[in-house]
Amino acid sequence: MDPIAVIATKRDGGELSTTQIREIVAAYTAGDVAPEQMSSLLMAIVLNGMGRREIADWTAAMIDTGVRLDLDGLTTVDKHSTGGVGDKITLPLTPLVASYGLAVPQLSGRGLGHTGGTLDKLESIPGWRADLTIDEMTAQLRDVGAVICAATSDLAPADRKLYALRDVTGTVPAVPLLASSIMSKKIAEGTAALVLDVKVGSGAFLPAVDDARVLAATMVELGTDAGVDTRALLTDMSTPLGRSAGNAVEVAEAVEVLSGGGPSDVVELTLALAREMLDAGGLGDVDPVENVRNGRAMDVWRTMIAAQGGDPDAALPTPRHVHEVRAERDGVLVSLDALAVGHAAWRLGAGRSRPGESVSSAAGVRWHAGLGERVRAGQTLFTLHADDASRFDAALDSLAEAAVIGDVEPTRRPLVLDRILA
Ligand code: URA
Repeated sequence: MDPIAVIATKRDGGELSTTQIREIVAAYTAGDVAPEQMSSLLMAIVLNGMGRREIADWTAAMIDTGVRLDLDGLTTVDKHSTGGVGDKITLPLTPLVASYGLAVPQLSGRGLGHTGGTLDKLESIPGWRADLTIDEMTAQLRDVGAVICAATSDLAPADRKLYALRDVTGTVPAVPLLASSIMSKKIAEGTAALVLDVKVGSGAFLPAVDDARVLAATMVELGTDAGVDTRALLTDMSTPLGRSAGNAVEVAEAVEVLSGGGPSDVVELTLALAREMLDAGGLGDVDPVENVRNGRAMDVWRTMIAAQGGDPDAALPTPRHVHEVRAERDGVLVSLDALAVGHAAWRLGAGRSRPGESVSSAAGVRWHAGLGERVRAGQTLFTLHADDASRFDAALDSLAEAAVIGDVEPTRRPLVLDRILA
């Protein structure tokens, strides 16, 4: 295989053959294709796209660089979000769905840039450990039904290497690359069913609804063709979810939801995704509100956290420094921009700029009004949390235009915008 010929094919708008794809993905993973060659090919894919057959081949090639888990014997159903701001839904959703007897293998990631990572959030719980062996993960799935842990390095290792390269070469937001990256890991993980939460709006990788719909349809098709019962919800990410973005602050919010409270949008999305997952797992007639009300979902959360070394009763880390931003005028909160809030949380230390960087568990942003709510001049609009006070200036820059206070109630777009089935 000649990498230059493969690059030239895609550069000139041609179709890559199955063999070309298989060989270049395997060779890059083995270190036999230079990163500058792979970056060039990735950029050609971003600019010229890929057909369905090419995307399926690219996904299969990534899966073939690693192992496939065997979760037979369990009724597995998983969920994946394409990433958003304040998106802590995995935290209450996983124990909620598992409380109905389904096995939920949530292999999650760490955050990079403005979208937070589920593992970073959970690591703010004292003692909690993300790295489980495959045996530990499957044992917890059998015993507890719920596990949220780091994807092992032998699941689609090509994706780990390609994602790191995409992240520094401006080649993340492209349907073929997003779809194959996400679905290679989910198919390799061995889940029988998968519900995708595809985000739309400023805080999403693909802000436009039409692009998000194509991404969702592509992933549903890849999953279905691989024998995974896959469906997707398109959900709004123009405004951040809940009332906080960061690490410990989001865990606290997830616990509120499991206790029967929490922000209404987080509750709504958790229940909408739970209904899809229960339906995919053969429990379409169950109302997930029940196990929030009777405490069963909370029981599974506590067992799940403890099984991974965490203390569900421990106090969460608090920030060394707090800064409040006050509303300048009376009015109604007309908009709150997801991307701006995500950047602020990241700049406060909740996220990382380079892979491997450590994050601050206590860092984050809380906002005290939701869209359409009335605010008064002088009222606290945002509370910023940081361990390092020198981070406040950059976060305040990000938030400068984040919130708009006006006089007329905004028309709110629904949280769930569309449902895409196979
Ligand atoms: N999450 C992934 O797993 N892959 C991407 O490409 C983007 C988000």
